[in-house]
Amino acid sequence: MRSYLFDILFSFTFFSMLGWVMETCYRSLRERRFVNPGLLKGPYLILYGAAALILAAAVSIIHEYNIFVKILCYFVITTGFELLSGFNARHFFNIRLWDYSDQRFQLHGHICLKFSIYWILLAFAFEYLLLPAYLGLTSGLSPFLKGIFGVVGVMLMAVDFFVVIREKQPSLNKESKRRSAHGTEKEFMNIAAPLLKNPMVAGLSQYPHHRGKSRLDHVKEVAALSFYWGRRFALDCRAIVRGALLHDLFFYDWLHEGPRLHGFRHHRIALENAKQVTRLSAKEADIIEKHMWPLTLIPPRYPESLVVCLADTFCSVKDYVRNRG
Ligand SMILES: [Fe+2]
Ligand SMILES: [Fe+2]
Repeated sequence: MRSYLFDILFSFTFFSMLGWVMETCYRSLRERRFVNPGLLKGPYLILYGAAALILAAAVSIIHEYNIFVKILCYFVITTGFELLSGFNARHFFNIRLWDYSDQRFQLHGHICLKFSIYWILLAFAFEYLLLPAYLGLTSGLSPFLKGIFGVVGVMLMAVDFFVVIREKQPSLNKESKRRSAHGTEKEFMNIAAPLLKNPMVAGLSQYPHHRGKSRLDHVKEVAALSFYWGRRFALDCRAIVRGALLHDLFFYDWLHEGPRLHGFRHHRIALENAKQVTRLSAKEADIIEKHMWPLTLIPPRYPESLVVCLADTFCSVKDYVRNRG
C-alpha cells in the first residue's frame, strides 16, 4: 500500500516536471525568450502531473478498446483538464495562463479545437511511447527513493502554491488593509492569548529552536502563517492556531539533548505535554501528531493538519536558508 502511494507521488512529480520542460521549451522557442509557464514558480506543472496519472489509469482500462473510444476518452480527459485549469486560474487568481481567443472553435479562450487535437495526439504518444519508456526506466528504482522524490516534490509544490496564493491576494486600499489587518490580528490574539499566557507554553522562550530563534518564536510564527492560510481557505482557524502553538511543546535543546531520533519522536512528546496544558479537540491533536508528516508516515487527517505541517516546513526551511553560514 505504501509503495503504491510512493509510486503515485513519484509519477505525479516526474510528469509535472516533464510537462514543465516540454511547455517551457515550446513557449520559449515560440516567443524567443525564456518563459516560465504555469502559475507556480518552480520547475513543475501540476496539470501535467495530474493528467498523466489520470491518463495512465485510463490506459489501463481502455487499452483494448477501439480507437474511437480512446479518442473520446482522451479528448474528455485532456480538454476537460485544460478547461478546468484555465477557468480556475482566471476565476481564483485573475490570471490567464494561456489564451486561445484568436483561434477558431474556441471556448472563452480556455480551450480550442486545434489544441484539443494536439492533446489527443499527445495522449496517444503517452500511451504508446512515453508510458512504456517511463515504466521501463523506473521499474528498477527502490520504493524508498521514489517515496523521497515524490514526497519532497509534492511538498515543494504545495509550499509554492501557498506562496503564490499569498502574492496573488487582491490589493486593497491602505485604509481597508489597515482595518482588515487589525481585525485579523485581533482574531488571532483572541485565540492565541490564553495559550500564550500558560507557563508551559511561555516557557518555550527558554529553548533555542532554529538558528537564532527560540522555540516560542518558532511556534508563534508557524501559528501566524497557518492562521493566514487557514483564513484563505475558510478552515477551522481556532484549531489551527491552538495546534500550531502546541506543535513543538517539548522541553529540551534538541540539537544537544533529548531522545534519539528526535525528528521521528517529538510529535508524540509534544502531544502528551499539550494534553497537560489544555483539552484538545481531535483536530488539534491531529495537527500536533502529524506536523512532521511524512516522517510520521500516516498522513494528516484534516486539511488544518496539512496546513500547519506545510507552514512548519516552510518556516523551518526559511530559518535555515536565511541564517545559513
Ligand atoms: Fe516539530
Ligand atoms: Fe516546528
